[in-house]
Amino acid sequence: MRKFKPKASDPIGVFDSGVGGLTVAKAIHDLLPSEDLIYFGDTAHMPYGEKSPHAIKSYSERIAGFLMEQPCKLIVIACNSASVTAFKQVQQILPDKDLVINVIDPVIEHMVKEQPFKRIGLIGTKRTVSSAVYKKKFEKANPDITLKSLATPLLAPMVEEGFFNNKISRTVVHSYLSNPHLNNIEAIILACTHYPLIIDEISSYYKGKVKIINSAEIVSQAVKTYLEERHLLNPQTKPSKLRFFVSDYTESFEETAKIFFGGKIKLREKNLFNE
Ligand code: DGL
Repeated sequence: MRKFKPKASDPIGVFDSGVGGLTVAKAIHDLLPSEDLIYFGDTAHMPYGEKSPHAIKSYSERIAGFLMEQPCKLIVIACNSASVTAFKQVQQILPDKDLVINVIDPVIEHMVKEQPFKRIGLIGTKRTVSSAVYKKKFEKANPDITLKSLATPLLAPMVEEGFFNNKISRTVVHSYLSNPHLNNIEAIILACTHYPLIIDEISSYYKGKVKIINSAEIVSQAVKTYLEERHLLNPQTKPSKLRFFVSDYTESFEETAKIFFGGKIKLREKNLFNE
């Protein structure tokens, strides 16, 4: 593969199955407002959490290939289901494996180095939970930590459809969180990038008794450190460019993207898949 030298002026590429990765893109934009961003939401294949590893790998490779063609100086897999499944495959198709980061490793590092908790809960998609990737990484990083993981498969499609901050989302969230498997936890990891959109519902269940770990903020810090260490922070002073692509146009995606980025977003449909 040809040698690729990322430039500070190149955009950061961010992808997810749908709106979830917008929570990460927004956190990056807030922390690093000079960075240009290209976002890809694979709405045609949402939810990834229900797909086979084979399918998620092939979607992720294709999207990462598209982001690399732009080119992007860094690709953020802003999706836990794709991070647990396709991180290595994406690394392999890029000119340099360091050009991509996932949403899991920064969270593990944060929990182990910066938080005191030993009984940690986790909610995520079926794919994320059944992969046991978080569990294995915690066991390796600190065997004293006990992780209680629960698959909450209704939540991402619910958020994708625009159901958040309402009675239905509160009822569904409370019903999942009352599962006895999550009893006695000190902190809970939102291991799906859609879940920061229902953080109010989650907070209203725990009422401050359990620390809620929002990976979007942690990942944005990891992006900042990554760019600083490589002298790749964009020095521009003009407003940054934000571009949004989806594989299948949906109104709810556009509405949610506007909640995050205001009316200024222009959504483009891009079919990367010959299906
Ligand atoms: N936002 C994605 C994640 O973090 C997945 C939602 C889905 O497509 O199932 O896992």
